[in-house]
Amino acid sequence: MFGFAPTYSMYPLLTRATGGQWVAGERGHDFTIDAASAAAQVAQAQPDVVMLCAPNNPTGTPLPLDVIEAVYEATTGMVIVDEAYWEFAPREERSALTMLADRPRMAVSRTMSKAFAFAGARVGYLAADAAVIDALRLVRLPYHLSALTQAAASAALRHAETMLATVDDIVVQRDRISATLPALGYDPYESWTNFVLFSGVEDPGATWRALYERGVLIRDIGLPHCLRVTAGTEDETSAFLDALASVDSAS
Ligand SMILES: Cc1ncc(COP(=O)(O)O)c(C=O)c1O
Repeated sequence: MFGFAPTYSMYPLLTRATGGQWVAGERGHDFTIDAASAAAQVAQAQPDVVMLCAPNNPTGTPLPLDVIEAVYEATTGMVIVDEAYWEFAPREERSALTMLADRPRMAVSRTMSKAFAFAGARVGYLAADAAVIDALRLVRLPYHLSALTQAAASAALRHAETMLATVDDIVVQRDRISATLPALGYDPYESWTNFVLFSGVEDPGATWRALYERGVLIRDIGLPHCLRVTAGTEDETSAFLDALASVDSAS
């Protein structure tokens, strides 16, 4: 399995846990991927499966469709596009779902854990060519989602508008974080998710702890000079920005 690092930490773990080998490709300095480099890296690695996280966790980075197309053309393997955070992307943007027709080696997955705020249900879903879905039915674990989980997911989909009502508010707060961080001396990366990765942190561990002591919990994901904050309510976002402003650690 091949993916562009840094990306969702479960990909390498699940790959190894299922007896596969994880091959990490490289991103540009701002965590973006360009089509030519992506295609060259995939052609070189010749993976059975390419995992593309769009937008990417933990960086928030959008993944242009031309990159997905170039990767698809560069491999004879499966290309899985993980759109776990897609609902937070700009509304006018095209999802990889629009690329599925005529691409029988592509699958697009989503989850109810993020925008639906329904992580407790443990339910996600996937779209792909009928032959891929049939093959998945053969290899999936014998104990499927419970009938109750499926009923809950169907009900959530029927009430998608209500379930997704907070997405717009979260996007406003995410953009407010990105717009405010430079004034505090930090550099936010472009985000199409519900979190913002920012650099310019001299000592991420120390800043993380200082925020924690002020009652604000964010993520130190181990990227040098970076921290990641998830957008919350307006009050929570204000609390984060005020706390960060009171911590003197921009490099
Ligand atoms: C990129 C990405 N994909 C998939 C998932 C899995 O979500 P779940 O297992 O809750 O459906 C996550 C959760 O953090 C994620 O960040």
